Amino acid sequence: MQPFFMAIIDIIRSRRSVRSYKPDPLTEDQIKAILHAGMLAPSAHNHQPWNFIVITNRDAINRLSMSVQGYLGDKLSASDAISYFGSQERVDRVKKRLELKEDTVFYGAPCVVMVVVDKANLEYGPIDCGMAAENMCLYAREQGIASCIIGYARHASREELIRVGMKESQELMFGMVFGYSDQMDGDPDRDFNKIQKWQK
Ligand SMILES: Cc1cc2nc3c(=O)[nH]c(=O)nc-3n(C[C@H](O)[C@H](O)[C@H](O)COP(=O)(O)O)c2cc1C
Repeated sequence: MQPFFMAIIDIIRSRRSVRSYKPDPLTEDQIKAILHAGMLAPSAHNHQPWNFIVITNRDAINRLSMSVQGYLGDKLSASDAISYFGSQERVDRVKKRLELKEDTVFYGAPCVVMVVVDKANLEYGPIDCGMAAENMCLYAREQGIASCIIGYARHASREELIRVGMKESQELMFGMVFGYSDQMDGDPDRDFNKIQKWQK
């Protein structure tokens, strides 16, 4: 899909977490541009604590996915599965994908980005990385590229994470996936009644 002009509010409104990807790769320039959008995010004390591990190697993505799937399989068979996954529908969805032996975790996306911070930066690091992540998702959306933040990536074994480039001194905040998809549309599912109090 060609880049097209969108007003910022339209980009924000139309960004969705996409869970189905075509295998078509992104170019290195496209990936770098997404990462640069992330690095433009604000951060506490301008520490810019984020570090990005980019994985476009299918075998490496599959290994990470398998590592997380082992963890999810254990959770599915636990007695508190519904409360862990949030609903019976999600339990069924994860179970089905595990049975299909698909890449349940990264949805077959051709580009996985692991966002890691040094353990010394854990106070504001998660917030800073979240800011960077949304910049990346919005920029990708504007470019016609689908994305999803993958919190489950935190359940990959430390051994696998180190194998793809994380340092012993670091922690994984979350993973992200990027790629092309024909399932980018969908209405936001939101409760806009979240202004708890407006003291006037
Ligand atoms: C911190 C964080 C972790 C997430 N982890 C996952 C994940 O592991 N797998 C997944 O499919 N979606 C994940 N999501 C996406 C959310 O499920 C999604 O944002 C939410 O359902 C709202 O849908 P929307 O992004 O399409 O508006 C995550 C989102 C955030 C912010």
